[in-house]
Amino acid sequence: MPADKTALRDFIISETTSIEEAMRDDLAGALRENDPLLIEVIEYALFGGGKRIRPLLAILAARVCALQDDSIYRLAAAFEYLHVATLVHDDVIDNAKERRGRPSAGEKYGIAAAILAGDWLHARSMHLVGRYGGQVGLGVFCRSTAGMVDGEFLQLRYAADCEITEEQYFAVIHRKTALLIESTCEIGALFAGADEKQRSALTAYGHKLGNAFQVIDDLLDYCGDRLNTGKKTGNDFAEGKVTLPLIRALKAADDNARKHVVDLFSGDRKDPEAYAVLSRMIDENGGFESARDTAESLIEGAIADLDVFSETDDPEGLAMLHGIARYVLKRDR
Ligand code: IPE
Ligand code: IPE
Ligand code: MG
Ligand code: MG
Repeated sequence: MPADKTALRDFIISETTSIEEAMRDDLAGALRENDPLLIEVIEYALFGGGKRIRPLLAILAARVCALQDDSIYRLAAAFEYLHVATLVHDDVIDNAKERRGRPSAGEKYGIAAAILAGDWLHARSMHLVGRYGGQVGLGVFCRSTAGMVDGEFLQLRYAADCEITEEQYFAVIHRKTALLIESTCEIGALFAGADEKQRSALTAYGHKLGNAFQVIDDLLDYCGDRLNTGKKTGNDFAEGKVTLPLIRALKAADDNARKHVVDLFSGDRKDPEAYAVLSRMIDENGGFESARDTAESLIEGAIADLDVFSETDDPEGLAMLHGIARYVLKRDR
């Protein structure tokens, strides 16, 4: 049964409040003795925006596996901590000045403060997963965190490489984005005492949803509105990232257009005219449409992975997992 839009929105609003309360409670204890600037940077990075998709997924994954325990919110907070740590570091790596509609942490407080605050959040996320997710959960979490670092390295390797294959692109986005989302779902399931079938279904759901999430993010980097996304468009081109819309367009384009793209990537990638030409070329060669089709198939697959929960005691939780998957496709922020 699909969740209706209002039910999903109400659920997100109320659960987000509980997640933010859990983060504030946790920080009140954990940050008490820390330097006031560290506290300020962490609060700045964590609050004031963010869709909280990862903690919401952890809660729902646990719910469809029959969870009844309020400490799920503390565990869920850990996924937002790690996510925000990676955003703060990612904006340093990507030279991104804007995040969640405000200056990025590195832009506001400087690179040293951003790196250190990200490290603190990373450490605290490990602490929480160790405490609430158990040894097995912590193993999953550490492996996905290590994989994210590897994904960022791979991405650097492929910078401005217009020959990147689709397989290589998916290797990057699986590591940098999907791994955290899939481990969020998996650890939520583990926390609720899931059996093997439930655990692997939720991992598979998170994997496909995570890949779709990044494909849509890559589309929004060209087609989004910065007032909604809270980040500048065109940053991927400026940073030399060759993402799925462009890979698909290159496949469809003729030799001339392909050569033109290579020239654009080796030229001044901060030139708005170059970005406009590239966007037009992707559009004319069907790259945006084709990438969106792929995100849609991934989401269909993610929803199909949830079939094993047809007998769940929490059909509402299951409907919300379906709803979040569909939301990933429709999102404009
Ligand atoms: C942004 O993630 C980084 C990606 C993995 C694409 P989100 O789009 O979930 O960012 P917030 O938390 O809502 O700001
Ligand atoms: C996702 O990639 C980065 C992380 C996993 C932190 P992007 O670099 O595309 O994310 P945005 O666009 O900066 O949010
Ligand atoms: Mg980035
Ligand atoms: Mg992006």
